[in-house]
Amino acid sequence: MTRIVHSRSELAAARAAMTGTVAVVPTMGALHDGHRANIRRAREAADAVIVTVFVNPLQFRPGEDLDRYPRTLEADAAVCEEEGVDLVFAPSEREMYPEGRDGLTTVHAGPGGDILEGASRPGFFTGVLTVVAKLFALTRPDLACFGEKDFQQLAMVRRMVRDLDMGVEILSVPTDREADGLARSSRNVYLSDIERAAALAIPHALRAAQDSTDPLAAAEKVLDAEPGLEVDYIAVRSPELGPAPEQGPARLLIAARAGTTRLIDNAPVSIGASMIGDPDA
Ligand code: PAF
Repeated sequence: MTRIVHSRSELAAARAAMTGTVAVVPTMGALHDGHRANIRRAREAADAVIVTVFVNPLQFRPGEDLDRYPRTLEADAAVCEEEGVDLVFAPSEREMYPEGRDGLTTVHAGPGGDILEGASRPGFFTGVLTVVAKLFALTRPDLACFGEKDFQQLAMVRRMVRDLDMGVEILSVPTDREADGLARSSRNVYLSDIERAAALAIPHALRAAQDSTDPLAAAEKVLDAEPGLEVDYIAVRSPELGPAPEQGPARLLIAARAGTTRLIDNAPVSIGASMIGDPDA
Protein backbone atom coordinates (compact mmCIF):
# COMPACT_ATOMS: atom_id res chain seq x y z
CA MET A 1 0.00 0.00 0.00
CA THR A 2 1.27 3.48 -0.86
CA ARG A 3 1.95 5.71 2.11
CA ILE A 4 1.68 9.49 1.74
CA VAL A 5 3.81 11.75 3.92
CA HIS A 6 4.01 15.54 3.97
CA SER A 7 6.81 16.32 6.40
CA ARG A 8 10.55 15.77 6.13
CA SER A 9 10.56 13.98 9.53
CA GLU A 10 7.96 11.44 8.35
CA LEU A 11 9.92 11.02 5.12
CA ALA A 12 13.17 10.43 7.01
CA ALA A 13 11.55 7.75 9.19
CA ALA A 14 9.94 5.99 6.23
CA ARG A 15 13.16 6.18 4.22
CA ALA A 16 15.18 4.72 7.12
CA ALA A 17 12.85 1.73 7.19
CA MET A 18 13.42 0.97 3.47
CA THR A 19 15.75 -1.86 2.58
CA GLY A 20 17.51 -2.55 -0.71
CA THR A 21 17.83 -0.01 -3.49
CA VAL A 22 15.59 3.05 -3.61
CA ALA A 23 14.48 4.97 -6.71
CA VAL A 24 12.91 8.41 -6.66
CA VAL A 25 10.61 9.84 -9.33
CA PRO A 26 10.44 13.62 -8.85
CA THR A 27 7.18 15.13 -10.15
CA MET A 28 5.03 18.22 -9.85
CA GLY A 29 1.93 15.99 -9.65
CA ALA A 30 -0.99 15.93 -12.10
CA LEU A 31 0.31 12.47 -12.89
CA HIS A 32 -0.37 11.06 -16.36
CA ASP A 33 0.80 8.06 -18.36
CA GLY A 34 4.21 9.65 -18.88
CA HIS A 35 4.72 9.66 -15.11
CA ARG A 36 3.43 6.09 -14.96
CA ALA A 37 6.19 5.12 -17.42
CA ASN A 38 8.79 6.78 -15.16
CA ILE A 39 7.37 4.98 -12.11
CA ARG A 40 7.39 1.62 -13.92
CA ARG A 41 11.01 2.14 -14.91
CA ALA A 42 11.80 2.93 -11.27
CA ARG A 43 9.97 -0.20 -10.11
CA GLU A 44 11.95 -2.37 -12.52
CA ALA A 45 15.26 -0.87 -11.41
CA ALA A 46 14.92 -0.62 -7.62
CA ASP A 47 13.50 -2.43 -4.59
CA ALA A 48 11.50 0.57 -3.35
CA VAL A 49 10.04 3.60 -5.12
CA ILE A 50 9.43 7.10 -3.76
CA VAL A 51 7.40 9.60 -5.83
CA THR A 52 7.71 13.24 -4.86
CA VAL A 53 4.83 15.62 -5.64
CA PHE A 54 5.73 19.28 -5.30
CA VAL A 55 4.84 22.22 -7.55
CA ASN A 56 8.14 24.02 -7.14
CA PRO A 57 7.62 27.81 -7.12
CA LEU A 58 11.33 28.36 -7.68
CA GLN A 59 11.11 27.20 -11.31
CA PHE A 60 8.23 29.50 -12.31
CA ARG A 61 8.80 33.08 -13.35
CA PRO A 62 6.31 35.83 -12.54
CA GLY A 63 3.46 35.59 -15.04
CA GLU A 64 3.96 31.87 -15.68
CA ASP A 65 1.36 29.26 -14.71
CA LEU A 66 2.31 28.59 -11.05
CA ASP A 67 -1.18 29.49 -9.81
CA ARG A 68 -3.12 27.52 -12.37
CA TYR A 69 -0.77 24.51 -12.46
CA PRO A 70 -3.03 21.48 -11.77
CA ARG A 71 -2.88 20.21 -8.18
CA THR A 72 -4.53 16.80 -7.95
CA LEU A 73 -2.96 15.01 -4.99
CA GLU A 74 -5.87 12.60 -4.42
CA ALA A 75 -5.80 11.38 -8.01
CA ASP A 76 -1.98 11.29 -7.93
CA ALA A 77 -2.10 9.08 -4.83
CA ALA A 78 -4.46 6.70 -6.65
CA VAL A 79 -2.05 6.49 -9.61
CA CYS A 80 0.83 5.77 -7.21
CA GLU A 81 -1.24 3.07 -5.49
CA GLU A 82 -2.00 1.42 -8.85
CA GLU A 83 1.65 1.53 -9.83
CA GLY A 84 2.85 -0.02 -6.57
CA VAL A 85 4.71 3.06 -5.31
CA ASP A 86 5.93 2.60 -1.74
CA LEU A 87 5.98 6.21 -0.59
CA VAL A 88 4.69 9.58 -1.81
CA PHE A 89 6.37 12.68 -0.42
CA ALA A 90 4.08 15.68 -0.94
CA PRO A 91 5.56 18.57 1.03
CA SER A 92 4.20 22.08 1.41
CA GLU A 93 6.30 25.03 0.24
CA ARG A 94 7.18 25.74 3.87
CA GLU A 95 8.37 22.17 4.36
CA MET A 96 10.63 22.43 1.31
CA TYR A 97 11.87 25.97 1.94
CA PRO A 98 11.57 26.38 5.74
CA GLU A 99 13.65 29.55 5.77
CA GLY A 100 11.78 31.02 2.84
CA ARG A 101 13.03 31.65 -0.68
CA ASP A 102 14.78 34.95 0.03
CA GLY A 103 18.51 34.42 0.44
CA LEU A 104 18.19 30.75 -0.45
CA THR A 105 21.35 28.85 -1.36
CA THR A 106 20.76 27.55 -4.88
CA VAL A 107 22.34 25.28 -7.47
CA HIS A 108 23.42 27.31 -10.49
CA ALA A 109 23.54 25.40 -13.77
CA GLY A 110 26.62 25.76 -15.98
CA PRO A 111 26.38 27.40 -19.43
CA GLY A 112 24.19 24.53 -20.63
CA GLY A 113 21.46 26.07 -18.49
CA ASP A 114 21.49 29.33 -20.44
CA ILE A 115 20.38 27.95 -23.82
CA LEU A 116 16.98 26.78 -25.08
CA GLU A 117 14.65 26.59 -22.03
CA GLY A 118 17.18 28.53 -19.96
CA ALA A 119 17.25 31.36 -22.53
CA SER A 120 13.45 31.51 -22.73
CA ARG A 121 12.92 31.10 -18.99
CA PRO A 122 15.88 32.67 -17.16
CA GLY A 123 16.42 31.08 -13.75
CA PHE A 124 14.40 28.01 -14.68
CA PHE A 125 17.26 25.55 -14.25
CA THR A 126 18.38 27.13 -10.99
CA GLY A 127 14.87 26.39 -9.75
CA VAL A 128 14.84 22.85 -11.11
CA LEU A 129 18.35 21.86 -10.01
CA THR A 130 17.90 23.36 -6.55
CA VAL A 131 14.72 21.44 -5.86
CA VAL A 132 16.06 18.22 -7.38
CA ALA A 133 19.22 18.50 -5.24
CA LYS A 134 17.05 19.03 -2.16
CA LEU A 135 14.77 16.11 -3.06
CA PHE A 136 17.83 13.89 -3.52
CA ALA A 137 19.17 14.99 -0.13
CA LEU A 138 15.83 14.28 1.53
CA THR A 139 15.04 10.95 -0.17
CA ARG A 140 18.65 9.67 -0.45
CA PRO A 141 17.94 7.59 -3.59
CA ASP A 142 20.24 5.14 -5.38
CA LEU A 143 18.64 6.11 -8.65
CA ALA A 144 16.18 8.60 -10.09
CA CYS A 145 13.99 8.52 -13.22
CA PHE A 146 13.38 11.49 -15.53
CA GLY A 147 11.46 11.64 -18.82
CA GLU A 148 13.11 12.47 -22.14
CA LYS A 149 10.34 14.96 -22.93
CA ASP A 150 12.23 17.43 -20.74
CA PHE A 151 15.43 16.58 -22.55
CA GLN A 152 17.44 19.57 -21.41
CA GLN A 153 16.31 19.06 -17.81
CA LEU A 154 17.51 15.45 -18.04
CA ALA A 155 20.90 16.62 -19.35
CA MET A 156 21.20 19.30 -16.66
CA VAL A 157 20.33 16.88 -13.86
CA ARG A 158 22.86 14.35 -15.16
CA ARG A 159 25.51 17.07 -15.26
CA MET A 160 24.68 18.28 -11.73
CA VAL A 161 24.92 14.74 -10.36
CA ARG A 162 28.36 14.34 -11.95
CA ASP A 163 29.66 17.79 -11.03
CA LEU A 164 28.44 17.67 -7.44
CA ASP A 165 29.31 13.98 -6.90
CA MET A 166 25.80 13.15 -5.80
CA GLY A 167 26.14 9.43 -6.48
CA VAL A 168 22.62 9.04 -7.87
CA GLU A 169 22.17 7.00 -11.04
CA ILE A 170 19.93 8.85 -13.50
CA LEU A 171 17.66 6.73 -15.69
CA SER A 172 15.93 8.30 -18.69
CA VAL A 173 12.52 7.23 -19.90
CA PRO A 174 11.34 7.70 -23.52
CA THR A 175 8.59 10.27 -24.09
CA ASP A 176 5.09 8.87 -23.71
CA ARG A 177 2.72 10.09 -26.44
CA GLU A 178 -1.01 10.23 -26.94
CA ALA A 179 -2.40 8.14 -29.83
CA ASP A 180 -2.05 11.11 -32.23
CA GLY A 181 1.58 11.77 -31.25
CA LEU A 182 1.19 14.70 -28.81
CA ALA A 183 3.72 14.30 -26.00
CA ARG A 184 1.99 13.76 -22.67
CA SER A 185 2.29 16.75 -20.38
CA SER A 186 0.44 17.96 -17.32
CA ARG A 187 -0.06 21.22 -19.25
CA ASN A 188 -2.06 19.50 -22.04
CA VAL A 189 -5.18 19.95 -19.87
CA TYR A 190 -5.01 23.71 -20.58
CA LEU A 191 -5.50 23.20 -24.34
CA SER A 192 -8.82 23.92 -26.05
CA ASP A 193 -9.76 21.56 -28.94
CA ILE A 194 -8.52 24.14 -31.47
CA GLU A 195 -5.23 24.68 -29.62
CA ARG A 196 -4.73 20.95 -29.24
CA ALA A 197 -5.18 20.46 -33.00
CA ALA A 198 -2.58 23.19 -33.62
CA ALA A 199 -0.22 21.60 -31.08
CA LEU A 200 -0.11 18.46 -33.21
CA ALA A 201 2.15 20.35 -35.61
CA ILE A 202 4.92 19.79 -33.04
CA PRO A 203 5.04 15.96 -33.27
CA HIS A 204 4.39 16.25 -37.01
CA ALA A 205 7.41 18.55 -37.33
CA LEU A 206 9.58 16.11 -35.37
CA ARG A 207 8.44 13.26 -37.58
CA ALA A 208 9.15 15.28 -40.75
CA ALA A 209 12.59 16.09 -39.36
CA GLN A 210 13.35 12.42 -38.82
CA ASP A 211 12.31 11.76 -42.41
CA SER A 212 14.67 14.37 -43.83
CA THR A 213 18.38 14.85 -44.40
CA ASP A 214 17.88 18.49 -43.31
CA PRO A 215 15.92 18.06 -40.06
CA LEU A 216 15.76 21.74 -39.12
CA ALA A 217 14.39 22.89 -42.48
CA ALA A 218 11.86 20.06 -42.58
CA ALA A 219 10.56 20.83 -39.09
CA GLU A 220 10.42 24.58 -39.72
CA LYS A 221 8.32 24.00 -42.84
CA VAL A 222 5.70 22.07 -40.85
CA LEU A 223 5.62 24.63 -38.01
CA ASP A 224 5.44 27.59 -40.41
CA ALA A 225 2.30 26.07 -41.95
CA GLU A 226 0.46 26.08 -38.59
CA PRO A 227 -0.83 29.58 -37.78
CA GLY A 228 -2.18 28.42 -34.40
CA LEU A 229 1.32 27.91 -32.98
CA GLU A 230 3.78 30.57 -31.91
CA VAL A 231 7.25 29.04 -32.03
CA ASP A 232 9.52 30.01 -29.15
CA TYR A 233 12.55 28.10 -30.42
CA ILE A 234 13.39 25.31 -32.77
CA ALA A 235 16.96 24.09 -32.58
CA VAL A 236 19.21 21.24 -33.58
CA ARG A 237 21.92 20.38 -31.08
CA SER A 238 24.26 17.45 -30.51
CA PRO A 239 22.75 14.57 -28.49
CA GLU A 240 24.48 16.09 -25.42
CA LEU A 241 23.05 19.53 -26.33
CA GLY A 242 26.35 20.95 -27.58
CA PRO A 243 26.54 22.68 -30.98
CA ALA A 244 24.89 20.73 -33.81
CA PRO A 245 27.22 18.39 -35.66
CA GLU A 246 27.72 18.91 -39.40
CA GLN A 247 26.61 15.35 -39.95
CA GLY A 248 25.26 12.43 -37.96
CA PRO A 249 23.12 11.96 -34.82
CA ALA A 250 21.61 15.08 -33.27
CA ARG A 251 18.62 16.22 -31.25
CA LEU A 252 15.86 18.50 -32.49
CA LEU A 253 14.14 20.51 -29.77
CA ILE A 254 11.00 22.61 -30.09
CA ALA A 255 9.19 24.98 -27.75
CA ALA A 256 5.97 26.61 -28.93
CA ARG A 257 2.87 28.25 -27.57
CA ALA A 258 -0.68 27.18 -28.43
CA GLY A 259 -2.85 29.95 -27.01
CA THR A 260 -1.38 30.63 -23.57
CA THR A 261 0.03 27.12 -23.18
CA ARG A 262 3.72 26.58 -23.69
CA LEU A 263 4.67 23.11 -24.94
CA ILE A 264 8.05 21.48 -25.44
CA ASP A 265 9.05 18.34 -27.29
CA ASN A 266 12.15 16.81 -28.89
CA ALA A 267 13.34 13.83 -30.89
CA PRO A 268 16.54 12.24 -32.14
CA VAL A 269 17.35 13.22 -35.73
CA SER A 270 20.19 12.59 -38.10
CA ILE A 271 21.85 15.33 -40.13
CA GLY A 272 22.63 14.26 -43.67
CA ALA A 273 20.59 11.04 -43.45
CA SER A 274 16.90 10.24 -42.96
CA MET A 275 16.06 8.22 -39.83
CA ILE A 276 12.97 6.58 -41.26
CA GLY A 277 13.47 2.82 -41.11
CA ASP A 278 15.77 3.26 -38.14
CA PRO A 279 14.23 1.11 -35.36
CA ASP A 280 15.45 3.60 -32.71
CA ALA A 281 13.74 6.55 -34.38
O1 PAF B 1 9.86 17.75 -14.52
C1 PAF B 1 9.28 18.18 -13.50
O2 PAF B 1 8.12 17.83 -13.24
C2 PAF B 1 10.00 19.14 -12.57
O3 PAF B 1 10.82 20.00 -13.29
C3 PAF B 1 10.78 18.43 -11.45
C4 PAF B 1 11.91 17.59 -12.00
C5 PAF B 1 9.83 17.55 -10.65
C6 PAF B 1 11.39 19.47 -10.52
O4 PAF B 1 10.41 20.27 -9.93
